[in-house]
Amino acid sequence: MGKYIIEGGYSLSGEIKVQGSKNAVLPLLAATVLNEGKTYFHNCPKILDVYNMLNILTAIGCTIKWDKDVLIIDSSNITTHIIPEKYVQMMRSSIILLGSVLGRLKTVKISFPGGCSIGTRPIDLHLKALKQMNVDIKDRHGFIECSTNEIIGNKVSLDYPSVGATENIMLTAVLSEGITTINNAAKEPEIVELQEFLCKMGAKIEGAGTDTIIIKGVNKLNSVEYRIMPDRIVAGTYMCAVAAAGGEVLLKDVCKEHLNSTITKINEMGCFIKEFEDSILIKAPERLKSLDLIRTQPYPGFPTDMQAQLMSCLVTADGTSIIAETIFESRYKHVAELVRMGADIIIDGRIAVLKGVNRLNGAEVFAEDLRGGAALVLAGLGAEGKTIVNNASHILRGYENLEKDLSLLGANIKYSSD
Ligand code: UD1
Repeated sequence: MGKYIIEGGYSLSGEIKVQGSKNAVLPLLAATVLNEGKTYFHNCPKILDVYNMLNILTAIGCTIKWDKDVLIIDSSNITTHIIPEKYVQMMRSSIILLGSVLGRLKTVKISFPGGCSIGTRPIDLHLKALKQMNVDIKDRHGFIECSTNEIIGNKVSLDYPSVGATENIMLTAVLSEGITTINNAAKEPEIVELQEFLCKMGAKIEGAGTDTIIIKGVNKLNSVEYRIMPDRIVAGTYMCAVAAAGGEVLLKDVCKEHLNSTITKINEMGCFIKEFEDSILIKAPERLKSLDLIRTQPYPGFPTDMQAQLMSCLVTADGTSIIAETIFESRYKHVAELVRMGADIIIDGRIAVLKGVNRLNGAEVFAEDLRGGAALVLAGLGAEGKTIVNNASHILRGYENLEKDLSLLGANIKYSSD
């Protein structure tokens, strides 16, 4: 499972480049199934979730090639509508193939993804929408089987602005008959990225980034070359790394517009932040300030994917902070580990109350999920002594160069595959 070994107490300085976005590239990889041609990706992050998605694409008939750093996917021949179960169990977000394989073949079979370490994660909203688009859905023996003679556009209203459901509906509707309107759509930047990518392939979509998205079905899509946008959560994680460890760092290749809510909170903690065209300078104060109440919310609110990393900063801030996790019901797995390092945190349902301590102590801890794992690494940077973060494979799902980047900035961190 691998581990990170961190000797705390080294402040960070210098500059690093932020990788391409995980949550943007996964739906784009799924979307390549739709174009019956070639897709060339630049800036694709080399992370476990991407490799898993590429394994699935290979298993259903795509050919995958890397030409130096350019990822080339040829989806001319899709040989099966069945998504191999082992990959779906490994990566919940493979549910995004529901829409694209259905769009391409008019049939798809995928095992029910089930829960994961951050919550039960149902897909009822995805399925309800597909039913409204003339798709027949059978849910039996742990598998979902979708089929249709023709996908027919419809007005779909989401009960909640789910990112995955919005993406699956867009992917299903691209090659449909008629017009699909998604009301109460998710507004995340990754949705805008998916619209831009699909439109570059010849789709007709507008409205992404607002709560109404309109998709006019087309008959055919074309080959495409595309550069993946920077990862806003990795950028936010690195900003929190500076806040937790101290120092001054320039983050290059960031999209600052995607980071507004994160920048606001990091700024309120007392960090100095200067924004440039596509980079951000962050400087940590002597001691961080606590925050009154942080609520995780759909975009443009504060992202749930940044909750754990922010918590790693606030546990040593001056004063008491409160976090309300409103998106996922059990996204506090990192709390017990932070407490093991000396943090003072009380959880009551979805509320976490954090009383800032002077300093954390290094300890052996266990990552339970991707962002919670990254948060433990950040805690280790600022802690006194040695921290070992076990189960590092969770972190490799989403971070391409965590220990290389942090080492470059002066942290004392090593990765061991043992
Ligand atoms: C995506 C992101 C994830 C991020 C999340 C929220 C990817 C690969 N993952 O996950 O990193 O934390 O958005 O920003 O992009 N829900 C239902 N029924 C459904 C679908 C969702 O009840 O059919 C609930 C979920 O249980 C959760 C909430 O809606 O409580 C948000 O989920 P959703 O926006 O769908 O997140 P994901 O797309 O799974």
